[in-house]
Amino acid sequence: MDVRMFVSGRRVKKWQFIQLFATCFVLSLMFFWIPIDNHIVSHMKSYSYRYLINSYNFVNDSLSLKRSEEGVPRYQYLINHEDKCQMQDVLLLLFVKTAPENYNRRSAIRKTWGNEKYVCSQLNANIKTLFVLGTPSDPLIRERLQKRLVWEDKMYNDIIQQDFADSFYNLTLKFLLQFSWANRFCPHAKFLMTADDDIFIHMPNLIEYLQSLEQIGVQDFWVGRVHRGAPPVRDKRSKYYVSYEMYQWPAYPDYTAGAAYVISGDVAAKVYEASQTLNSSLYIDDVFMGLCANKIGIVPQYHVFFSGEGKTPYHPCIYEKMMTSHGHVEDLQDLWMDATDPKVKTISKGFFGQMYCRIIKIVLLCKLTYVDTYPCRAAFA
Ligand SMILES: *[C@@H]1O[C@H](CO)[C@@H](O)[C@H](O)[C@H]1NC(C)=O
Ligand SMILES: *[C@@H]1O[C@H](CO)[C@@H](O)[C@H](O)[C@H]1NC(C)=O
Ligand SMILES: *[C@@H]1O[C@H](CO)[C@@H](O)[C@H](O)[C@H]1NC(C)=O
Repeated sequence: MDVRMFVSGRRVKKWQFIQLFATCFVLSLMFFWIPIDNHIVSHMKSYSYRYLINSYNFVNDSLSLKRSEEGVPRYQYLINHEDKCQMQDVLLLLFVKTAPENYNRRSAIRKTWGNEKYVCSQLNANIKTLFVLGTPSDPLIRERLQKRLVWEDKMYNDIIQQDFADSFYNLTLKFLLQFSWANRFCPHAKFLMTADDDIFIHMPNLIEYLQSLEQIGVQDFWVGRVHRGAPPVRDKRSKYYVSYEMYQWPAYPDYTAGAAYVISGDVAAKVYEASQTLNSSLYIDDVFMGLCANKIGIVPQYHVFFSGEGKTPYHPCIYEKMMTSHGHVEDLQDLWMDATDPKVKTISKGFFGQMYCRIIKIVLLCKLTYVDTYPCRAAFA
């Protein structure tokens, strides 16, 4: 293109002005849209790869270790309870991923959804709750915090800790700790759940659900909020950045949000085996779970009342069916009282009760603007 054409005013005709204007307009649009567009394109691209990624072996082939001894990190137990699970009949082994300094969160969980005695007496099921930890990562307070942890564990007998630094980038080590503990000390648990320490679990609903699954002898079971065909984040500034060396494909296998998911005992055993043969340098623990499951050919099921990163709308009509909700620290005990109140179950009784709750759920979940909570179809579940 002849640039002088535009520069010397006399030679520029009217339509060329229009052309110039249009070009500038398109260029500026592109300038603004490229970042957004990339985001959308990368999601579309990764989603279209989803079928391939989920159906073939090339992902596990590329991440498999040559010999299993060389890559799997092993750490010593600092705090352990080998006989925690000794009783035969364990419905649910519940791991809570927590950090050394989060004493208040653990304390609230012990009083609410993590309470084994409540579940045993009120719900007639055996669960085992364990808080899973690494060592305090801040050297200044490491010793003091470690002493507190040992004291805390003497009181409650519910901590397992290994000798690695507790940090975001070591979450896969925490994942390996959970699965090797389950494999070694609790292989007979019917179900295994892993949860964050800022989550809310509606134990009465969950236990009822698991008991019904146990009755039909469910196998190959993995449930939660499923991420389908999610692309790896390639932006170096992101907390979730993953390099091509770590993971070369444009999409992850389907996986459930690490905030809370449940698997059956047979899956726990197989995932443990798979985890011993994969390169564990990928530090996003729920994605790593997806890789292990992909290797053994297990696919996750989407449950509309598992929230992932999202939060429940506060309403009895929702509590009636909810399973998990994310981001509860200050309000955990209030929510526990409200959501597990037996009155919740009566609100949707009868024709008018059902109508009322259906409308409330549609209003709360089917919004035009995006709200990170249960999906709209949960209103019709
Ligand atoms: C993970 O834990 C190991 C063992 O304690 C430590 O050497 C490493 O620095 C930790 N990594 C991060 C990113 O904290
Ligand atoms: C695991 O993958 C990383 C790249 O993310 C690589 O540097 C490392 O050598 C691999 N480890 C093994 C044992 O293959
Ligand atoms: C990958 O997984 C498939 C099953 O999904 C298995 O048959 C294959 O052997 C695995 N590949 C490696 C290298 O482990």
